[in-house]
Amino acid sequence: MRFPLKGNSDNGRKKAQHMSKKDKLWSGRFSRETSDLMERFSQSVSFDKRLYRHDIAGSLAHAEMLSAQGVITTAEFRKIRKGLREIQKEIESGKFLWSVEQEDVHMNIESALIEKIGEAGKKLHTGRSRNDQVSTDMRLYMMEEIDAICDLITGIQRELVRRADQESGTVMPGWTHMQPAQPVTFGHHLLAWNQMFERDYRRFRDCRGRTGECPLGSAALAGTGYPIDRKMTAAQLGFARVMANSLDGVSDRDFAMEFAACGSILMIHISRIAEELVLWSMPALDFVDIGEGFCTGSSIMPQKKNPDVAELMRGKSGRAVGNLVTLLTIMKSQPLAYNRDNQEDKEPLFDQVDTVKSCLEVFRAMLPGIVVHPENMTRAATVGNPTATDLADYLVGKQIPFRDAHEIVGRIVGYTVWNDTHLHEIPLEKLREFSDRIEEDVFETITLEGSISRRNHAGGTAPKQVRKAARDAMRTIKARSQ
Ligand code: ARG
Repeated sequence: MRFPLKGNSDNGRKKAQHMSKKDKLWSGRFSRETSDLMERFSQSVSFDKRLYRHDIAGSLAHAEMLSAQGVITTAEFRKIRKGLREIQKEIESGKFLWSVEQEDVHMNIESALIEKIGEAGKKLHTGRSRNDQVSTDMRLYMMEEIDAICDLITGIQRELVRRADQESGTVMPGWTHMQPAQPVTFGHHLLAWNQMFERDYRRFRDCRGRTGECPLGSAALAGTGYPIDRKMTAAQLGFARVMANSLDGVSDRDFAMEFAACGSILMIHISRIAEELVLWSMPALDFVDIGEGFCTGSSIMPQKKNPDVAELMRGKSGRAVGNLVTLLTIMKSQPLAYNRDNQEDKEPLFDQVDTVKSCLEVFRAMLPGIVVHPENMTRAATVGNPTATDLADYLVGKQIPFRDAHEIVGRIVGYTVWNDTHLHEIPLEKLREFSDRIEEDVFETITLEGSISRRNHAGGTAPKQVRKAARDAMRTIKARSQ
């Protein structure tokens, strides 16, 4: 049965009926019809029709090469080209009738071409198999999607780096084990997020490099006896080179696994960032206000403003990792060359594309509306003696070995706990009871600002370094588009 795309009336049914099951492109050696159950089970057109543009582009390149090589005539190529272009228009206007009987996107388009142009259409599949065809389509599709994802990552990075520069002097608590550790600047924190995305970007670019090899010409598995020109089709389709081995060409799905892995790592990053936003927006901390456009209310508690979007981004990381595991497991133990298992690569891969893109889009859209409350961040940064390490370092500067300095400061911290005070509030005379090396200049060290500005080296949290790192990061991002 041919099923119409959304919005189509069922006048297509009639057209579909004239096509019996025996019209399958591979029906020659079969004497009996396939069962409906089997047809529904094995079809992929319901989801691989997403690849129609790439399938048509691959067919156009293949047909042009066949005519350049004299395998088909120029007139036949022109008919094929005209027919395929019409089919593309029909698909895009929603008029094309997809058929489950025709199994997948490849046979749907090829059979429609034959219906449309007759004999010439039957020559399109010369020297080609669905095995190299599907891998070509997938790779073309992935290259496009990777470029789109890289653009989305770049957009986020630009915003993060711009904000980091603005927030280079905003003090916030730095935590390890979720306990007060050392003060940092918010700009520094944003640049840490930027580094995660920087690696994601580079991972996707690497992945694109390996995706950009053309399997066309591998045919079913062994190559073909026709005088094909693989370089011509590869170049025409925008591939950097042809795949070196035809068995590998039809069976390799590393690009799918790699893409899913890149996507999973990116989604793990997004989940970590989302988690921080959820924490920071708790009224008890109130470091940031996530814009109302990206929060939801409660149906029972009138006061609620929940960070659902951040939570969903966090939750979707589970689904991304699931897609990766699915793809890895599909490939596990598959002998050479093509096996039908590979048809199962599409849904997790498409879902990975959709998940990654939607999360990047939403995150990019929500970033500018996030309002920072620097006073709350700075207040929280004073809690828990986060400059204790600075005091120990100060004593090291006064010729006390670090281990001894650590012990002395530990005792001073104990004093603050019992006396409900903070390091920087203890009077000098009291501090000197713990060590007579402590002098007036100690207060330059144990304030939040003192602690931060001393970490003035590449990768450090000092405002000066953050501004420099932001400049460097922006230069790296801008160099991409050139
Ligand atoms: N729909 C198939 C897939 O996605 C196309 C290749 C089918 N090849 C075959 N020999 N049955 O993998």
